[in-house]
Amino acid sequence: MISPLLLSLFANAAIGAPQSANCRCRPSDSCWPSVKEWSSLNKTVHGNLVAVRPVASVCHQPGYNADACKVVTDSWTDSVWRSSQPGAGQWENWEAWPERNQSCYIESPENAACQQGRISLYSAIVQSASDIQHAVQFASTHNLRLAIKNTGHDFLGRSTAPESLQILTHNMKDIKIVDSFVPKGSSKSEGPAITIGAGVQLPEMYEAVAQHNRTVIGGSSHTVGAAGGYVQGGGHSPFGHWKGLASDNALEFEVVTADGKLVTANSYQNTDLFWALRGGGGGTFGVVTSVTLRTFEEVPVVVYNFNITTAGGDPRFWDAFAEWHAALPSINDGGGSGYYFSLPNYPISASVSVSTIFSLLMFPEKTDVAQIDLLYQPLAAKLRQIGGVQVVNESIPFPTMSSTIFTMLIGGQSDSTGGISMLASRLYSKDLLTSQDGPGRLANAFKSIKWNPFAEIIGHVVAGGAVAANADKVDSAVNPAWRKAISHMLFSRSWAANATLAEQTAVIKNMTDVEIPILRAVEGEDQMGAYLNEANAYEPGFQAAFWGANYPRLYMIKQKLDPKGLFISRKGVGSEDWDDAGLCRTSGNHD
Ligand SMILES: Cc1cc2nc3c(=O)[nH]c(=O)nc-3n(C[C@H](O)[C@H](O)[C@H](O)COP(=O)(O)OP(=O)(O)OC[C@H]3O[C@@H](n4cnc5c(N)ncnc54)[C@H](O)[C@@H]3O)c2cc1C
Ligand SMILES: *[C@@H]1O[C@H](CO)[C@@H](O)[C@H](O)[C@H]1NC(C)=O
Ligand SMILES: *[C@@H]1O[C@H](CO)[C@@H](O)[C@H](O)[C@H]1NC(C)=O
Ligand SMILES: *[C@@H]1O[C@H](CO)[C@@H](O)[C@H](O)[C@H]1NC(C)=O
Ligand SMILES: *[C@@H]1O[C@H](CO)[C@@H](O)[C@H](O)[C@H]1NC(C)=O
Ligand SMILES: *[C@@H]1O[C@H](CO)[C@@H](O)[C@H](O)[C@H]1NC(C)=O
Ligand SMILES: *[C@@H]1O[C@H](CO)[C@@H](O)[C@H](O)[C@H]1NC(C)=O
Ligand SMILES: *[C@@H]1O[C@H](CO)[C@@H](O)[C@H](O)[C@H]1NC(C)=O
Repeated sequence: MISPLLLSLFANAAIGAPQSANCRCRPSDSCWPSVKEWSSLNKTVHGNLVAVRPVASVCHQPGYNADACKVVTDSWTDSVWRSSQPGAGQWENWEAWPERNQSCYIESPENAACQQGRISLYSAIVQSASDIQHAVQFASTHNLRLAIKNTGHDFLGRSTAPESLQILTHNMKDIKIVDSFVPKGSSKSEGPAITIGAGVQLPEMYEAVAQHNRTVIGGSSHTVGAAGGYVQGGGHSPFGHWKGLASDNALEFEVVTADGKLVTANSYQNTDLFWALRGGGGGTFGVVTSVTLRTFEEVPVVVYNFNITTAGGDPRFWDAFAEWHAALPSINDGGGSGYYFSLPNYPISASVSVSTIFSLLMFPEKTDVAQIDLLYQPLAAKLRQIGGVQVVNESIPFPTMSSTIFTMLIGGQSDSTGGISMLASRLYSKDLLTSQDGPGRLANAFKSIKWNPFAEIIGHVVAGGAVAANADKVDSAVNPAWRKAISHMLFSRSWAANATLAEQTAVIKNMTDVEIPILRAVEGEDQMGAYLNEANAYEPGFQAAFWGANYPRLYMIKQKLDPKGLFISRKGVGSEDWDDAGLCRTSGNHD
């Protein structure tokens, strides 16, 4: 009998070797699939394989097309349109491949060549789990770089990959809602739940449960996918304090693994995979075809808006910033969670600027506005003592969670994307903010960063409460720092579309070498870390920052389930064994 190992060696020999044994097969290699082979993949995915060009190619010679270019130009910042396009991500910088001087921007002149960048060469626009199995098997057989794109929102460049075959999950929109969900392999009901296909987006999920007078834990975005990178990366929610992280509420995943099999992962089978898929990060352990999440009864919500403003550049702003953070633990203990937006340098007219914090926290299961106002009174008193600080507030009661979500969180039609975005972020603990000097040290750190006009610090009060309590109830790969966290804080930087590689590198380098160390030093190296879905794309020591003590187990599971590294995502588990583009293995398990 010929051993499976020999068979696979023969298969590789017949296909032809890539340029280097440790690299993916690339278009210039003799192993690249022939037209006939691509066409056979096309048949297995029901004719839904497309050759892909960047969306802006129609705005450049030689393929310039005025009508098509107008559509692209009008849609450029529309996240809903971008999520459906095989030839687009959400952030221009991940469509480009600056290291190779490749981009295709609408901002560049018509006569500038449109280069492929990190946009996949082919896309399998999958409709079913079996389509996904065919695409995974094809990529595995031909040793191709695989990219999984759901909505393309990833800030770390995980859903685009150069010279790759893309699996686009966008069209997998099945939704099933049940009153009693029994995981496969169990006989015990987990209660009401929703099962969503890989391509379902947050508003689609919220609408579906609202029709059943129920709600579900999700994020705040028109376009982020509920089953993809969001939940697999942990999934924070403005209602996290109430019911936990999205991944805390995941009951079961259907997944196509690297060997092409479709498996079920839950508390009863494939438990390692189930553990890893809740917080281990998207694009790493398999292609999720569907996920089942708990649903909850509708409850009323009070939204409380509290704004703090000083004259622009008044140093007392940072005292107010410290007091706001010192007040967060008691407000969060009182049930408040949501967001705050701080603009240290906010021009409100040509000659006047202010420094401000605009906060919007939600209180589920609350109707008594006066009771919530009381929670903020000690803060208001402290701010009055500082002087020079203006405070206003407004309470907005909602009858249901879904009316809160659609009015306050995702009003309008789309998120504005299409630009260039590089984040720096940190998780901060409740212990820090309840300590004597913690809020002051946090304020000093943010004060020492350079704030250009309109620059925004976004604070996410999406932990505490159930997120903290789930430390003892949910065993998942989520960064243990989430259980101690009270605020996930971030800011972003950008550059012009025509910036040179050196200009881009300078911004990134200042973030990783100067700004992130400032944010990190507040609690000390490796104490807390960062949220992997909204972090710097070049995060130093990403393994400890994104997963803390869970990293070694995640790495082990990755080696077991995907020894050849078919699923590699930037700054994902196991990505340190590959080059930045995921094209060549640089260490680890060499064949
Ligand atoms: C406007 C906006 C709002 C946001 N709001 C929130 C929020 O409220 N809470 C929060 O936690 N995060 C939020 N995020 C961050 C968000 O969670 C990440 O951007 C996440 O990566 C999006 O996942 P996606 O599947 O939609 O995107 P994609 O970029 O398509 O995918 C992200 C990663 O997941 C992988 N992936 C996608 N689908 C699958 C699949 N079916 N199986 C396996 N891997 C898959 C991809 O390969 C990639 O690695 C927000 C982002 C934006 C831009
Ligand atoms: C796949 O097949 C469809 C339908 O036959 C065809 O329209 C499409 O061009 C094919 N894709 C590729 C990449 O050849
Ligand atoms: C990068 O590409 C642009 C336009 O295609 C060209 O003008 C420039 O010289 C290139 N730079 C390098 C370093 O190759
Ligand atoms: C949801 O609640 C509304 C108002 O209370 C009621 O009219 C409707 O029948 C309910 N729908 C379901 C599916 O229970
Ligand atoms: C909120 O505004 C109301 C009305 O102006 C005021 O009475 C109340 O004191 C304010 N609450 C706080 C915490 O500032
Ligand atoms: C707080 O500031 C935001 C943003 O500027 C504004 O929309 C809101 O109306 C303000 N709230 C109050 C109560 O004035
Ligand atoms: C680096 O970041 C710091 C803090 O934001 C800032 O003060 C400094 O100007 C930046 N340096 C460069 C070269 O951009
Ligand atoms: C980029 O474009 C701007 C104008 O939009 C121009 O001033 C600048 O010189 C350009 N930079 C480079 C590197 O080409």
